[in-house]
Amino acid sequence: MSKNREKDDVSGVETTGHEWDGIRELDNPLPRWWLYIFYATVVWSIGYWVVMPAWPLVNDYTRGVLGHSQRLDVDAAIASLKEGRSALGEKLAKATPQEIEADPELQQAALAWGRSAFGDNCATCHGGGGGGNVGYPNLNDDIWLWGGTLDDIRHTLKVGIRSTHPETRLSAMPAYGRDELLEPGQIRDLAEYVLNLSGKSTDAEAVARAAPLFVDNCAACHGEDGKGLREFGSPNLTDADWLYGGDKDTIIETITNARNGVMPTWEGRLDAPTINALAVYVHSLGGGE
Ligand code: HEC
Ligand code: HEC
Repeated sequence: MSKNREKDDVSGVETTGHEWDGIRELDNPLPRWWLYIFYATVVWSIGYWVVMPAWPLVNDYTRGVLGHSQRLDVDAAIASLKEGRSALGEKLAKATPQEIEADPELQQAALAWGRSAFGDNCATCHGGGGGGNVGYPNLNDDIWLWGGTLDDIRHTLKVGIRSTHPETRLSAMPAYGRDELLEPGQIRDLAEYVLNLSGKSTDAEAVARAAPLFVDNCAACHGEDGKGLREFGSPNLTDADWLYGGDKDTIIETITNARNGVMPTWEGRLDAPTINALAVYVHSLGGGE
């Protein structure tokens, strides 16, 4: 590359003096349109510095005449949201779930609040929308272990089931096999008996053998007819709905080792408006009593 400014013979334009292997660069001026846009951006940037926050300082930054700040915008938005929520929260905490349901506006707010709290706290166990999982009851249907009225649901939420709360809902089906309360043969017979309650047994003799065992061991919690008792949270064994499963192996496993599913207590973890909103939300899912 040589530095040699000279005129280009063909175009008559001076070259920049740069040359690469015989190729030289013409020194044409920048196009006008390009230059004007460039000047305009310079002017724009000066205006921007003046008006908007622009330059970092040691501990601060220049604020600009407008004093615009997205952080302040967010703060203001959060403050107004909190104010709205705390007014609503107060209403939701003071009202009973029945009063909330009776007031359409409050009910809508509670449902929205409850739905989001459900997603955050309950869906891991009960499934999104409360559809349930094995061992975790479906909250959409008419089948309730502990009760489906607003008060029942709210109480379940507050104290939990087999939880650490001193007043927890409690009942513990014994592990008949593990604790050697019954022989394996008796447990197989009882499984047939349970199957027979929903018309699924194929072994009438086993059912007959198990009948007195059911009366002695199981009826106290599940009822003489096997339809379940609310005060013990014991499932109805005569219907097609199973918490853990209605095939013979699963029933044998349930009787052998028991299940004793745990639902945490939410008192202390969720505030009063949220518990009320959740009670109203769960009640609305379809199976509320
Ligand atoms: C760690 C898992 C877990 C979480 C989280 C959980 N639950 Fe439960 N829940 C259970 C289990 C297990 C049962 C059934 C216990 C039993 O066998 O009696 C249950 C039972 C219930 C019942 C009683 C149903 C009936 O038929 O009476 C309601 C209502 C309920 N849950 C609502 C909720 C709500 C609302 C939340 C969120 C705040 C929640 N649960 C979070 C595990 C959970
Ligand atoms: C102290 C009360 C109690 C006694 C006694 C009891 N159960 Fe249970 N049983 C329950 C409860 C509560 C559940 C709910 C599941 C749980 O523990 O989470 C249950 C669940 C079951 C289930 C599972 C149902 C499902 O939907 O999956 C079967 C089956 C069952 N019991 C059979 C029996 C049989 C058979 C006996 C007698 C040998 C018996 N139970 C004795 C309280 C009892």
